[in-house]
Amino acid sequence: MKLGIVKERRRNEARVAVSPDTVKKLAGLGFEVIIESGAGAGASFTDEALTAAGSRVVSEPAAVLRDSDVVLKVQRPLMAGEGELDEIGAMKRGAVLIGILAPYASREHLAAYARQGVDAYAMELLPRITRAQTMDVLSSQANLAGYRAVLEAAYVYGRGFPLMMTAAGTVSAARILVMGAGVAGLQAIATARRLGAIVSATDVRPAAKEQVKSLGATFVAVEDEEFRQAETAAGYAKEMSEAYKQKQAALIAETLKKQDIVIATALIPGRPAPRLLTEDMVKSMKPGSVIVDLALEQGGNCALSEADKVVVRHGVTIVGHANVPSRLAEVASMLYARNLLAFLTPLVDKAGGALKFDREDEIVKSTCLTHDGRIVHPAFASGGA
Ligand code: NAI
Repeated sequence: MKLGIVKERRRNEARVAVSPDTVKKLAGLGFEVIIESGAGAGASFTDEALTAAGSRVVSEPAAVLRDSDVVLKVQRPLMAGEGELDEIGAMKRGAVLIGILAPYASREHLAAYARQGVDAYAMELLPRITRAQTMDVLSSQANLAGYRAVLEAAYVYGRGFPLMMTAAGTVSAARILVMGAGVAGLQAIATARRLGAIVSATDVRPAAKEQVKSLGATFVAVEDEEFRQAETAAGYAKEMSEAYKQKQAALIAETLKKQDIVIATALIPGRPAPRLLTEDMVKSMKPGSVIVDLALEQGGNCALSEADKVVVRHGVTIVGHANVPSRLAEVASMLYARNLLAFLTPLVDKAGGALKFDREDEIVKSTCLTHDGRIVHPAFASGGA
């Protein structure tokens, strides 16, 4: 069985879907691994290292896609008209595609997979069950994004994070508010604390409270009846009511005046990110304050963030880097490649030399977008192919 990896061709993407470590393990599972030359360069995985691990490196991406029974990607493949290569059109019928396919962002891609006869699996749709933890790409990448967001803030912040007592005077510790205490937010809290900041955090899920406190941060939230019901069965946040949003905005407005840095990570799966920071709130912050908006790709938590830019508005620096995990491409690729390996391993039918999907399995059902030329995922099936 041939397994192919091409270079990621979307903007701001330095990650790759394999590492030398997973090439070895994939080869051990019986895959013949084919990689486009240079595919690992952004993650510091050289062609030599990938070859030494057991893959075949080739120069022609279309040949990799044409020959592969399984294609591993980070982001969704390009379709006709999106770039120099129609990656979906180059794939063979019956091939399996696995990646962070952003199905909510583009239904056209789902239709293209179906037309091409490609069985596509979206890793971000994995259920958050114990068995799937090692495959959880959202966690592995969000954890790194949370860490990096704090470093990005530290880099543009004109003062330090820790309390410093020097002969020239005392510098007070930075005050940081983390908005959204999921995977990224919790890592941001831990990172900011390690750098010596005084950290508080807000979320709409009650479960977040204990987690925030256990990391030594203060929990700031409107804890009413709606808050007590805000977590879905899948562990995610719900979109809150207008009344809750107003109460939350009033509390945030008060809290913000005392903060130096905000790390905004609040997301609702499949929906635009909640708009938590208005222009007036930004105006109320001290000059020299910093906001890092990690939710930008889903529309942003801050009204003034700009995609891919660091801007100064009302004296506040607002960092809007796209694709923050890609800014730590080596470790992000390493962990992502391990997630994919964990997803693939139970599917390998060694006797038959093929992948065997149990269509009733919760992990398969949750992630499978297209199968046998049809869009099969219940959240998208009505769109048709
Ligand atoms: P996410 O990336 O979807 O959202 C980030 C955070 O924003 C969440 O904590 C969410 O509650 C919060 N948020 C949403 N709307 C908000 C608002 N209006 N104001 C403030 N905060 C808001 O979430 P993530 O990081 O993917 O985690 C979701 C859940 O999954 C968590 O409960 C986490 O502990 C759980 N989880 C479970 C895993 C497992 O069991 N395998 C693995 C990873 C996470």
